[in-house]
Amino acid sequence: MIIEPKMRGFICLTSHPDGCEQNIINQINYVKSKGQIKGPKKVLVIGASTGFGLSSRITSAFGSDASTIGVFFEKPPMEGKPATPGYYNSLAFQKHAEKAGLYARSINGDAFSDEVKKITIDLIKKDLGQVDLVIYSLASPVRQHPVTGVLHRSVLKPIGVPFSNKTVDFHTGIVSNVTIDPCSDEDILNTVAVMGGEDWDMWISELMKAGALSENALTLAYSYIGPSLTEAVYRKGTIGRAKDHLEASAFSITEKMKSLNGKAFVSVNKALVTQASSAIPVIPLYISLLYKIMKAKGIHEGCIEQIQRLFQDRLYTGNEIPTDEKGRIRVDDWEMRADVQKEVADLWVKATTENIAEIGDLAGYKTDFLNLFGFNFPEVDYSKDVNENVEIAGLL
Ligand code: NAI
Repeated sequence: MIIEPKMRGFICLTSHPDGCEQNIINQINYVKSKGQIKGPKKVLVIGASTGFGLSSRITSAFGSDASTIGVFFEKPPMEGKPATPGYYNSLAFQKHAEKAGLYARSINGDAFSDEVKKITIDLIKKDLGQVDLVIYSLASPVRQHPVTGVLHRSVLKPIGVPFSNKTVDFHTGIVSNVTIDPCSDEDILNTVAVMGGEDWDMWISELMKAGALSENALTLAYSYIGPSLTEAVYRKGTIGRAKDHLEASAFSITEKMKSLNGKAFVSVNKALVTQASSAIPVIPLYISLLYKIMKAKGIHEGCIEQIQRLFQDRLYTGNEIPTDEKGRIRVDDWEMRADVQKEVADLWVKATTENIAEIGDLAGYKTDFLNLFGFNFPEVDYSKDVNENVEIAGLL
């Protein structure tokens, strides 16, 4: 079929297999251009099909020759209906990994469930024995708790008082004011249940129990801090509470991994256009201003640049892993630079519908958003008939 982008609100309902493959090729080429990393050899990535998790898988495989197992939750294609992009990304990843002689297997299912944990651990035991790196990179709106059966829904809301600020609809370029009502106490608990560290802890406990983690194993989850402009809805909002919990979990998980001399870290990453971040009000305006400034200064990064730098300059240098005073690895250092933040704050005050295309990088935002779904790659011929109904070989 001929596949075109079909937008509905903040999501795109279609995705393009050739474009998703181009995204993978571009990421692989970037990682290769940066040279070999003395990094991990057997890696489990939970949330491996898009965003930071996908880039972590690509960096492990093509930067460090690692065997990888990826867990994700994606809709496979049907005749006449394209898959979600993470499915095509994983298909392309597997194709290129196999071509390079690298082991790659994937599991498509709910990572929060006991069943998917068991399938994954059985596969590790059978094919790899143990893993030396576990990346935990889930971004999900819901989690069914495996013990209580309760379905928790996360929300992106301020705590205590309503929050009003500017936002931009990145499709139309209209800058407007948005007011977000504060959450209930239950919203906080639910968001922590979905995006906090409990499930990460459960994964590591099960992997430890099965003897599936090697000596000196590392595990990593991703967090975000951001500027005061967005803190009411992000770091001091419901999702911030979940990130506080995730960051605290790194310490309890490290304690758990002591017998292996293993360690758990949270890496604080840069704000990027992903499916998850596009849905948070205020963030798209912040990102389009931030991109403009970081690009002008030559310090802009996407997911793959962030993760490649994380592996090469933080995790696998041969020296102790550098952290901030709260034990977190920081690759949001360039985003948070005082000069960058001052310029974003100055532009923020000025931003209107009339000037946003000029003072912000709205075009870059849109391109990145379309790229997430495999669209807008100059190398791809979108008028060509493609087979949407393709399968990932050996997918569990
Ligand atoms: P994303 O939406 O691109 O990727 C999420 C991944 O989780 C996908 O592979 C998806 O298939 C998988 N997933 C979701 N629910 C699942 C389930 N129930 N079972 C199995 N897999 C499931 O997200 P993104 O943006 O890469 O986020 C990953 C982490 O990075 C999150 O913790 C996020 O908060 C954090 N982060 C994101 C930033 C951003 O600007 N996007 C900035 C800093 C941190």
